[in-house]
Amino acid sequence: MYSATSASLRKITVPELSARKKSQGAPPIAMVTAYDFTMARLIDEGGADMVLVGDSLGMVVQGLGNTIPVTLDEIAYHGRAVVRGTQRAHVTGDMPFMSYQISAAQAVESAGKLMKEGGFESVKLEGGEAMAEHVYRIVRAGIPVVGHVGLLPQSVHALGGFKVQGRGDSAAQIVRDALAVEDAGAFCVVLEAIPPDLAAEITAALSVPTIGIGAGGACDGQVLVCTDLLGMSRGHAPKFAKRFAELGDAIAGAVREYVRDVRSGEFPGREHAYKPNGPEEPTEPLLRH
Ligand code: KIV
Repeated sequence: MYSATSASLRKITVPELSARKKSQGAPPIAMVTAYDFTMARLIDEGGADMVLVGDSLGMVVQGLGNTIPVTLDEIAYHGRAVVRGTQRAHVTGDMPFMSYQISAAQAVESAGKLMKEGGFESVKLEGGEAMAEHVYRIVRAGIPVVGHVGLLPQSVHALGGFKVQGRGDSAAQIVRDALAVEDAGAFCVVLEAIPPDLAAEITAALSVPTIGIGAGGACDGQVLVCTDLLGMSRGHAPKFAKRFAELGDAIAGAVREYVRDVRSGEFPGREHAYKPNGPEEPTEPLLRH
Protein backbone atom coordinates (compact mmCIF):
# COMPACT_ATOMS: atom_id res chain seq x y z
CA MET A 1 0.00 0.00 0.00
CA TYR A 2 1.30 3.49 -0.88
CA SER A 3 2.12 5.73 2.08
CA ALA A 4 2.98 9.43 2.17
CA THR A 5 5.86 8.70 4.56
CA SER A 6 7.60 6.48 2.05
CA ALA A 7 7.15 9.17 -0.64
CA SER A 8 9.13 11.68 1.40
CA LEU A 9 12.29 9.53 1.44
CA ARG A 10 15.21 11.18 -0.35
CA LYS A 11 15.76 8.45 -2.97
CA ILE A 12 12.69 6.62 -4.28
CA THR A 13 13.22 2.89 -3.84
CA VAL A 14 12.22 -0.07 -5.96
CA PRO A 15 9.83 -1.49 -3.31
CA GLU A 16 8.08 1.91 -3.13
CA LEU A 17 7.72 2.04 -6.89
CA SER A 18 6.49 -1.53 -7.21
CA ALA A 19 3.72 -0.74 -4.69
CA ARG A 20 2.41 2.28 -6.63
CA LYS A 21 -0.85 0.86 -8.01
CA LYS A 22 -3.49 3.52 -8.69
CA SER A 23 -6.18 0.98 -7.76
CA GLN A 24 -4.72 1.02 -4.23
CA GLY A 25 -4.84 4.81 -3.97
CA ALA A 26 -1.22 5.50 -4.95
CA PRO A 27 -0.33 8.54 -7.06
CA PRO A 28 0.64 7.67 -10.65
CA ILE A 29 4.35 7.29 -11.38
CA ALA A 30 5.84 10.05 -13.55
CA MET A 31 8.83 8.87 -15.59
CA VAL A 32 10.86 10.99 -18.02
CA THR A 33 13.87 10.12 -20.17
CA ALA A 34 17.16 11.97 -19.74
CA TYR A 35 20.58 11.55 -21.29
CA ASP A 36 22.78 14.14 -19.56
CA PHE A 37 23.54 15.76 -16.21
CA THR A 38 21.85 19.12 -16.79
CA MET A 39 18.55 17.68 -18.02
CA ALA A 40 18.52 14.99 -15.32
CA ARG A 41 19.00 17.60 -12.61
CA LEU A 42 16.07 19.69 -13.91
CA ILE A 43 13.82 16.64 -14.28
CA ASP A 44 14.69 15.55 -10.73
CA GLU A 45 13.97 19.11 -9.50
CA GLY A 46 10.62 18.93 -11.33
CA GLY A 47 9.65 15.94 -9.19
CA ALA A 48 9.74 13.02 -11.64
CA ASP A 49 9.73 9.67 -9.82
CA MET A 50 11.80 7.79 -12.37
CA VAL A 51 14.37 8.86 -14.94
CA LEU A 52 15.03 6.54 -17.86
CA VAL A 53 18.25 6.64 -19.85
CA GLY A 54 16.43 5.22 -22.83
CA ASP A 55 17.99 3.81 -25.96
CA SER A 56 15.89 6.56 -27.56
CA LEU A 57 19.18 8.42 -27.09
CA GLY A 58 19.95 6.96 -30.54
CA MET A 59 17.36 9.31 -31.99
CA VAL A 60 17.42 12.17 -29.48
CA VAL A 61 21.18 12.50 -28.93
CA GLN A 62 22.75 10.80 -31.91
CA GLY A 63 20.28 11.73 -34.67
CA LEU A 64 19.69 8.11 -35.75
CA GLY A 65 16.48 6.78 -37.30
CA ASN A 66 16.03 4.03 -34.71
CA THR A 67 17.51 2.58 -31.51
CA ILE A 68 19.28 -0.44 -33.01
CA PRO A 69 22.88 0.89 -33.20
CA VAL A 70 22.95 2.09 -29.54
CA THR A 71 25.56 0.28 -27.45
CA LEU A 72 25.87 -0.79 -23.83
CA ASP A 73 28.88 1.52 -23.39
CA GLU A 74 26.84 4.48 -24.63
CA ILE A 75 23.99 3.76 -22.18
CA ALA A 76 26.56 3.42 -19.36
CA TYR A 77 28.27 6.68 -20.35
CA HIS A 78 25.01 8.67 -20.37
CA GLY A 79 23.92 6.84 -17.21
CA ARG A 80 26.88 8.13 -15.23
CA ALA A 81 25.97 11.71 -16.13
CA VAL A 82 22.26 11.25 -15.37
CA VAL A 83 22.92 9.52 -12.05
CA ARG A 84 25.10 12.47 -10.98
CA GLY A 85 22.16 14.77 -11.74
CA THR A 86 19.50 12.96 -9.70
CA GLN A 87 18.96 13.07 -5.96
CA ARG A 88 15.40 11.76 -5.59
CA ALA A 89 14.31 10.03 -8.79
CA HIS A 90 15.03 6.36 -9.39
CA VAL A 91 17.33 5.96 -12.41
CA THR A 92 16.83 3.06 -14.79
CA GLY A 93 18.92 2.22 -17.86
CA ASP A 94 17.77 0.67 -21.12
CA MET A 95 19.46 -2.50 -22.25
CA PRO A 96 20.25 -1.91 -25.92
CA PHE A 97 19.58 -4.21 -28.87
CA MET A 98 21.62 -7.44 -28.77
CA SER A 99 22.93 -6.82 -25.26
CA TYR A 100 20.48 -9.34 -23.75
CA GLN A 101 18.62 -11.29 -26.45
CA ILE A 102 21.30 -13.93 -27.12
CA SER A 103 21.10 -15.80 -23.80
CA ALA A 104 20.06 -15.34 -20.19
CA ALA A 105 23.76 -15.38 -19.24
CA GLN A 106 24.47 -12.53 -21.68
CA ALA A 107 21.51 -10.62 -20.24
CA VAL A 108 22.83 -10.94 -16.67
CA GLU A 109 26.31 -9.89 -17.73
CA SER A 110 25.05 -6.83 -19.64
CA ALA A 111 22.70 -5.79 -16.83
CA GLY A 112 25.59 -6.12 -14.38
CA LYS A 113 27.76 -3.90 -16.58
CA LEU A 114 25.08 -1.20 -16.64
CA MET A 115 24.74 -1.32 -12.85
CA LYS A 116 28.51 -1.21 -12.25
CA GLU A 117 29.59 1.19 -14.97
CA GLY A 118 26.44 3.29 -15.44
CA GLY A 119 25.49 3.53 -11.77
CA PHE A 120 21.88 2.58 -12.52
CA GLU A 121 19.42 1.39 -9.90
CA SER A 122 17.58 -0.91 -12.32
CA VAL A 123 17.59 -1.91 -15.98
CA LYS A 124 14.81 -2.00 -18.58
CA LEU A 125 14.52 -4.49 -21.39
CA GLU A 126 12.06 -5.08 -24.21
CA GLY A 127 10.12 -8.30 -24.66
CA GLY A 128 7.47 -10.47 -23.05
CA GLU A 129 7.26 -14.26 -22.92
CA ALA A 130 10.34 -14.61 -25.12
CA MET A 131 12.47 -12.65 -22.65
CA ALA A 132 10.89 -13.87 -19.39
CA GLU A 133 13.71 -16.28 -18.58
CA HIS A 134 16.23 -13.47 -19.11
CA VAL A 135 14.27 -11.12 -16.82
CA TYR A 136 14.10 -13.89 -14.18
CA ARG A 137 17.87 -14.47 -14.25
CA ILE A 138 18.67 -10.75 -14.01
CA VAL A 139 16.29 -10.36 -11.07
CA ARG A 140 17.82 -13.44 -9.40
CA ALA A 141 21.20 -11.71 -9.72
CA GLY A 142 19.86 -8.90 -7.53
CA ILE A 143 19.17 -6.39 -10.29
CA PRO A 144 15.70 -4.81 -10.44
CA VAL A 145 14.08 -5.00 -13.89
CA VAL A 146 11.57 -2.77 -15.66
CA GLY A 147 9.67 -4.76 -18.30
CA HIS A 148 8.59 -3.32 -21.66
CA VAL A 149 5.83 -4.84 -23.83
CA GLY A 150 3.59 -3.68 -26.67
CA LEU A 151 5.52 -1.77 -29.31
CA LEU A 152 9.13 -2.90 -29.03
CA PRO A 153 11.22 -0.29 -30.88
CA GLN A 154 14.23 -2.64 -31.09
CA SER A 155 12.04 -4.92 -33.25
CA VAL A 156 11.13 -2.09 -35.63
CA HIS A 157 12.12 -4.03 -38.74
CA ALA A 158 10.30 -7.21 -37.71
CA LEU A 159 7.19 -5.13 -36.94
CA GLY A 160 7.36 -3.24 -40.24
CA GLY A 161 7.70 0.16 -38.55
CA PHE A 162 6.77 1.97 -35.36
CA LYS A 163 3.13 0.86 -35.28
CA VAL A 164 0.42 0.58 -32.64
CA GLN A 165 0.39 -2.99 -31.27
CA GLY A 166 -2.34 -5.13 -29.71
CA ARG A 167 -5.19 -4.37 -32.09
CA GLY A 168 -7.40 -7.40 -32.74
CA ASP A 169 -6.02 -10.88 -32.14
CA SER A 170 -2.56 -9.77 -31.03
CA ALA A 171 -4.04 -8.26 -27.84
CA ALA A 172 -4.04 -11.61 -26.03
CA GLN A 173 -0.31 -12.07 -26.69
CA ILE A 174 0.46 -8.68 -25.15
CA VAL A 175 -1.51 -9.63 -22.02
CA ARG A 176 0.52 -12.87 -21.83
CA ASP A 177 3.74 -10.91 -22.36
CA ALA A 178 2.97 -8.51 -19.50
CA LEU A 179 2.02 -11.36 -17.15
CA ALA A 180 5.19 -13.27 -18.11
CA VAL A 181 7.55 -10.42 -17.25
CA GLU A 182 5.67 -9.77 -14.01
CA ASP A 183 5.97 -13.47 -13.10
CA ALA A 184 9.67 -13.30 -13.94
CA GLY A 185 10.10 -10.56 -11.34
CA ALA A 186 9.85 -7.20 -13.14
CA PHE A 187 8.92 -4.49 -10.60
CA CYS A 188 6.98 -2.44 -13.17
CA VAL A 189 6.14 -2.80 -16.85
CA VAL A 190 6.20 -0.18 -19.61
CA LEU A 191 3.27 -0.51 -22.06
CA GLU A 192 4.10 1.19 -25.34
CA ALA A 193 1.66 2.16 -28.12
CA ILE A 194 -1.30 -0.10 -27.36
CA PRO A 195 -5.03 0.76 -27.24
CA PRO A 196 -6.18 2.23 -23.89
CA ASP A 197 -8.68 -0.60 -23.22
CA LEU A 198 -5.95 -3.20 -23.53
CA ALA A 199 -3.67 -1.15 -21.26
CA ALA A 200 -6.51 -0.93 -18.72
CA GLU A 201 -7.00 -4.71 -18.86
CA ILE A 202 -3.27 -5.35 -18.33
CA THR A 203 -3.09 -2.77 -15.54
CA ALA A 204 -5.94 -4.55 -13.74
CA ALA A 205 -4.34 -7.95 -14.26
CA LEU A 206 -0.87 -7.02 -12.94
CA SER A 207 0.01 -6.47 -9.31
CA VAL A 208 3.04 -4.34 -10.28
CA PRO A 209 2.54 -0.89 -11.83
CA THR A 210 2.18 -0.34 -15.56
CA ILE A 211 3.82 2.74 -17.06
CA GLY A 212 2.24 3.84 -20.31
CA ILE A 213 3.56 5.66 -23.35
CA GLY A 214 0.82 5.99 -25.93
CA ALA A 215 -1.27 3.58 -23.86
CA GLY A 216 -3.95 5.86 -22.38
CA GLY A 217 -4.75 7.07 -18.90
CA ALA A 218 -5.54 3.83 -17.08
CA CYS A 219 -1.88 2.91 -16.52
CA ASP A 220 -0.30 3.33 -13.08
CA GLY A 221 2.21 5.79 -14.51
CA GLN A 222 3.32 7.58 -17.66
CA VAL A 223 6.64 8.01 -19.44
CA LEU A 224 7.61 10.59 -22.06
CA VAL A 225 10.81 11.33 -23.91
CA CYS A 226 12.13 14.58 -22.42
CA THR A 227 12.51 16.40 -25.74
CA ASP A 228 8.89 15.59 -26.66
CA LEU A 229 7.60 16.73 -23.25
CA LEU A 230 9.60 19.97 -23.48
CA GLY A 231 8.71 20.76 -27.08
CA MET A 232 12.30 20.43 -28.33
CA SER A 233 11.59 17.78 -30.97
CA ARG A 234 11.30 18.86 -34.58
CA GLY A 235 9.41 17.09 -37.35
CA HIS A 236 6.76 14.44 -36.80
CA ALA A 237 5.71 14.03 -33.16
CA PRO A 238 3.77 10.99 -31.98
CA LYS A 239 0.09 11.65 -31.19
CA PHE A 240 0.54 10.79 -27.48
CA ALA A 241 3.47 13.17 -26.91
CA LYS A 242 1.92 16.18 -25.21
CA ARG A 243 4.26 19.19 -25.35
CA PHE A 244 4.27 20.84 -21.91
CA ALA A 245 6.53 23.67 -23.12
CA GLU A 246 7.99 24.99 -26.38
CA LEU A 247 11.64 25.02 -25.40
CA GLY A 248 12.77 24.30 -28.97
CA ASP A 249 11.42 27.67 -30.08
CA ALA A 250 12.73 29.33 -26.89
CA ILE A 251 16.26 27.94 -27.45
CA ALA A 252 16.40 28.83 -31.15
CA GLY A 253 15.03 32.30 -30.30
CA ALA A 254 17.63 32.85 -27.57
CA VAL A 255 20.46 31.80 -29.89
CA ARG A 256 19.11 34.10 -32.60
CA GLU A 257 19.20 37.00 -30.12
CA TYR A 258 22.74 36.09 -29.02
CA VAL A 259 23.95 35.95 -32.64
CA ARG A 260 22.35 39.33 -33.30
CA ASP A 261 23.97 40.88 -30.21
CA VAL A 262 27.41 39.44 -31.02
CA ARG A 263 27.19 40.76 -34.56
CA SER A 264 25.98 44.18 -33.45
CA GLY A 265 28.59 44.42 -30.67
CA GLU A 266 25.89 44.73 -28.00
CA PHE A 267 27.24 41.58 -26.33
CA PRO A 268 29.37 41.44 -24.26
CA GLY A 269 28.48 44.64 -22.39
CA ARG A 270 30.48 46.25 -19.59
CA GLU A 271 28.54 44.20 -17.02
CA HIS A 272 29.91 40.98 -18.56
CA ALA A 273 33.57 42.04 -18.31
CA TYR A 274 36.02 41.73 -15.38
CA LYS A 275 37.15 44.91 -13.62
CA PRO A 276 40.94 45.53 -13.72
CA ASN A 277 41.16 45.73 -9.88
CA GLY A 278 38.09 43.72 -8.88
CA PRO A 279 37.80 40.89 -6.32
CA GLU A 280 38.80 37.29 -7.07
CA GLU A 281 35.91 35.70 -8.97
CA PRO A 282 35.36 32.14 -10.23
CA THR A 283 35.75 31.94 -14.00
CA GLU A 284 34.52 28.43 -14.76
CA PRO A 285 31.02 28.93 -16.22
CA LEU A 286 30.03 25.26 -15.94
CA LEU A 287 31.00 24.64 -12.33
CA ARG A 288 27.79 25.94 -10.84
CA HIS A 289 26.59 22.85 -9.06
O1 KIV B 1 14.04 4.40 -25.07
C1 KIV B 1 13.08 4.98 -24.53
O2 KIV B 1 13.06 6.20 -24.36
C2 KIV B 1 11.95 4.17 -24.10
C3 KIV B 1 10.72 4.88 -23.65
C4 KIV B 1 10.08 5.56 -24.76
C5 KIV B 1 9.80 3.98 -22.91
O3 KIV B 1 12.03 2.98 -24.12
